[in-house]
Amino acid sequence: MTPEQLDIEQALPRMQDLASRLWSRTARHHPGQLAWSAAYGEPEALDLGPVFVLDDAWAWLESPDWLEVCGVEPDAVRAAVAAALETVDGDVTASTLESEDVVLAALAETGFVEVEAPWFTHHHLDLADLPPVRLPEGYAVRAVRPGEHEERAAVHRAAWSATSKVTTGAYHRLMATPPYRPELDHVVTSESGEWVASCCVWWDEATGVALVEPVGGVAEHGGRGLAAAASVSALTAARGLGATEGLVCPRGDDDYPGPARLYRRIGFVPGARTRTYRRTTGR
Ligand SMILES: CC(C)(COP(=O)(O)OP(=O)(O)OC[C@H]1O[C@@H](n2cnc3c(N)ncnc32)[C@H](O)[C@@H]1OP(=O)(O)O)[C@@H](O)C(=O)NCCC(=O)NCCS
Repeated sequence: MTPEQLDIEQALPRMQDLASRLWSRTARHHPGQLAWSAAYGEPEALDLGPVFVLDDAWAWLESPDWLEVCGVEPDAVRAAVAAALETVDGDVTASTLESEDVVLAALAETGFVEVEAPWFTHHHLDLADLPPVRLPEGYAVRAVRPGEHEERAAVHRAAWSATSKVTTGAYHRLMATPPYRPELDHVVTSESGEWVASCCVWWDEATGVALVEPVGGVAEHGGRGLAAAASVSALTAARGLGATEGLVCPRGDDDYPGPARLYRRIGFVPGARTRTYRRTTGR
């Protein structure tokens, strides 16, 4: 059982297909999250490493010291992890959901131990329970249009930080990365037409799950429900296409509780959390 070594562009459709096939509320990976992780910045800024792929598992060196793993078949997961680790020559960190038993076992067998790190909690929402979109007066919400990658990247950066890796060129590429759909990428505009909040939703048609990633609201317009409105609006559009369940994965630790509060107000309920593991070489 020898995994194929591929670069992320070649591997992404197969990684997404496996993530979709294995999706459950106890699984870490969603096809939209993989698209975002593979394309949110310029390739040279992201420093994405190779993927080790089998039919039933993959292991991705998302960066030279960060490993992501997908699979539920123990031998396949073990083989993918082993192939990835053969190419690593330093410490490597991996994060997975606490419910990913097979991945956790493969990491433990290869010397990973749990470390303290910021963690994330998967949150779920039956889209039948979505509240209506609520916007304060003067604001409007709409879907991004093809060709608006420059404005879209700018509103993301304005909310996150000026040093965000989300450039105009990167967003252009992201918009060409399946399962991206502009009709599920929503922005809130102010009375003067300025873009002030945004939410991108990724719909996996096979599972019906619509992932919220990312959400942003610029600070000068913060605390008015704009990020929540962008999220509800994009999720409502996904429901209109056939999505049945929402997923969002905000920080779960106490150091950054705001986004989880925002999603719980919309109706999302917490599920499994991530845990972080590190394998040190002792050098
Ligand atoms: C987190 C972030 C998206 C919030 O944007 P926002 O537009 O201020 O979000 P909202 O206004 O919808 O909600 C924020 C707060 O405003 C409050 N609020 C919402 N509508 C309100 C209203 N009509 N009147 C008064 N307060 C309101 C909410 O209760 C919430 O408060 P809480 O955090 O104490 O629960 C924004 O700060 C941001 O982009 N941060 C950096 C990126 C980030 O962390 N993104 C989320 C990652 S998962």
